[in-house]
Amino acid sequence: MTVLQNIKACVFDAYGTLFDVHSAVGKHRSRIGEKADQLSMIWRTKQLEYTWLRSLMGAHVDFWKVTQDGLDYAAETCGIDDSKLLSDLMQAYLALDCYPEVKETLAALTQKDVKTAILSNGSPHMLAAAVESAGLQDLLDGVFSIEDVGIYKPAPRVYQLACNRLGVSASEISFQSSNAWDAAAAANFGMNVVWINRFGQKRERLPKPAHAELPTLAGLPELLA
Ligand code: LAC
Repeated sequence: MTVLQNIKACVFDAYGTLFDVHSAVGKHRSRIGEKADQLSMIWRTKQLEYTWLRSLMGAHVDFWKVTQDGLDYAAETCGIDDSKLLSDLMQAYLALDCYPEVKETLAALTQKDVKTAILSNGSPHMLAAAVESAGLQDLLDGVFSIEDVGIYKPAPRVYQLACNRLGVSASEISFQSSNAWDAAAAANFGMNVVWINRFGQKRERLPKPAHAELPTLAGLPELLA
């Protein structure tokens, strides 16, 4: 089943798409107790909200700071006041689990002669740590951080950064994200988009629909001509 033509590069969102953001809390679940899932959900929600809000305000700080702020908010909401635990959770964010099919998918794409890269909100040090911890460094041609443009997704300049760095046009890129709003923004920018709908979410009412939808990254290589 080939649906994407003339693709020269596959570009991946990082958090939620390659890396399981909830694995940080998962590693310390026994120390958190019954509020663990609530903490993780609020942490992720606030982290993303702060990226959007700071971009609109013109008040950028890097993703490490936004992640820390989101965790502080989530911990206070859940009544957690344990600075050692919060520091350990931040460290765990540097070594998130990658989803089980990621390595095999990247390796298969390399065989198909397409470039592979990450395009993420993550700061360079966070992305370097996550890539190394998951052992993905030899499977990626580039790791691009929004720090180079100083604004978060879904600003169009972020998606342009991937085109510039890879030397290809938007229509030659297949962009993969599990974050539906990120998928919509990349499609609106002009990339081919595969929404990795890991959590069986409903379709966002945003411009523009993804070109394809998969439950995991495993089916990606067969979508490419
Ligand atoms: C990223 C966020 C959106 O990696 O998960 O860019």
